[in-house]
Amino acid sequence: MAIEIVEGDITAQQVDVIVNAANSSLLGGGGVDGAIHRRGGPEILADCRKLRAGHYGRGLKVGQAVATTAGRLPARWVVHTVGPVWSSSEDRSSLLADCHRNSLRVAASLGAVSVAFPAVSTGIYRWPLESAAEIALSTVAEELADSSVEMVRFVLFGQQAYDVFRAASSA
Ligand code: APR
Repeated sequence: MAIEIVEGDITAQQVDVIVNAANSSLLGGGGVDGAIHRRGGPEILADCRKLRAGHYGRGLKVGQAVATTAGRLPARWVVHTVGPVWSSSEDRSSLLADCHRNSLRVAASLGAVSVAFPAVSTGIYRWPLESAAEIALSTVAEELADSSVEMVRFVLFGQQAYDVFRAASSA
């Protein structure tokens, strides 16, 4: 069981699963969602459209996770999860934890042994990095204790996010 923390671009990670911070539509967006679709190519969106035409007709719920092809990315699958939007009045921590738990469970069900996560919800959804790091790291550590996934890599975009996750991991 290994948890790595690196600074870089998640779309370049050579792992079995790259986790996408998607939105409920599953039809792309900005941030890491945009980067994954741009670099992964149209096959990812085509798979997402199939999901929307089938079981996910109403979109993916916050905290849930679903897999598609990784297209041209150096991974086998993309696991899309929808993070909660930050709220100062409502505690949505359990939903952010669900994103990580469910993404790992979907990855394990595929037979993946290595998974890369971005800092879900900390961009457009405005979740404070410190809080997100605590929730992400603790949930992943707990889930890895009895998962067939062997390695999780948090890939942080920029020095600040990297520093926050590093600090949280040694807290
Ligand atoms: N590699 C790794 N991390 C990245 C990359 C990348 N290439 N690009 C952005 N990030 C980081 C951001 O810096 C942020 O720390 O991913 C984290 C998540 O930010 P967002 O991508 O904005 O995702 P989120 O805050 O969960 O908001 C989701 O944004 O892109 C849309 O369609 C998406 O509507 C959804 C919303």
